[in-house]
Amino acid sequence: MTSISPPESLRCINADSREPAGYRAALGDTRAALLHTDPPYCLLTRRRKGGDLRDTRAHKKIDQNPIVRFETVRDYRAFSEAWLSSATAHLTPDAPLIIWTNLLGKEPILTAARGLGYPHLRGEYVWGKRTTDKNANEQTLRVYEVALVIARTPAPPLAPGDLPTVWAVVGGYDDEGEAKRWGGHPHHKPFSVLEPLVRTYSRPGDTVLDPFAGSGSMPSAALRLGRRPACLEIEPEWAERVTHRLRETAREEAQRASAR
Ligand SMILES: C[S@@+](CC[C@H](N)C(=O)[O-])C[C@H]1O[C@@H](n2cnc3c(N)ncnc32)[C@H](O)[C@@H]1O
Repeated sequence: MTSISPPESLRCINADSREPAGYRAALGDTRAALLHTDPPYCLLTRRRKGGDLRDTRAHKKIDQNPIVRFETVRDYRAFSEAWLSSATAHLTPDAPLIIWTNLLGKEPILTAARGLGYPHLRGEYVWGKRTTDKNANEQTLRVYEVALVIARTPAPPLAPGDLPTVWAVVGGYDDEGEAKRWGGHPHHKPFSVLEPLVRTYSRPGDTVLDPFAGSGSMPSAALRLGRRPACLEIEPEWAERVTHRLRETAREEAQRASAR
């Protein structure tokens, strides 16, 4: 597929997704037709009753960027409201919200979305993550990451000729073997896990917004499927890596298209 964006025009904006400035820089006056994002998960700081950290070593490790921990679920709810209200101001009225989360994050995210006029949970897209735990007859999958598909309106009924909506996928952390190439982000998502969502909830040429780009799996999937990616990331190193990734991906897609 020919990339619709020239490589040098692609970039990830280094910005805080709670603030409006990054969205203006990423989108200008364009409104995105899909929000597809993977915000920090609702991971809580481990504390003893007295307030001390429960396990300082583990806390130190997990607190290294780009992993964020929250003191309480209430803090996570406030965080979700802050970024979601900035992000939804840059969407078309029909744009669905696809928000990846761990199981603890579902309620705070749904509450924030409802408060912003998105009351309909159309469904949960479940990623059964392949583990290395297996024997000859059995394979263990772990489910702790789901993508909530949320909208202002209920899903329209499917017509008899329509394809069914995909609500589950099975895949390993890095089935395509590309996580390391793009920095080995702890929350890397493989293309095969994201592809059904991008295809179902956007059309070629649409702008797809990701305010928490990480290593860029979501904007890169959008680009590979002929959408226009717009993205933000708060960590400057990761924002730079994503810019590099998008430009490389656009070049590779263009080469692939010209070889056909
Ligand atoms: C769960 S990770 C995203 C991983 C990404 N989907 C990937 O495949 O690599 C969340 C990202 O959000 C970034 N982040 C955290 N708080 C942010 C904020 N307020 N604004 C923008 N980015 C933020 C973190 O640095 C982290 O890279």
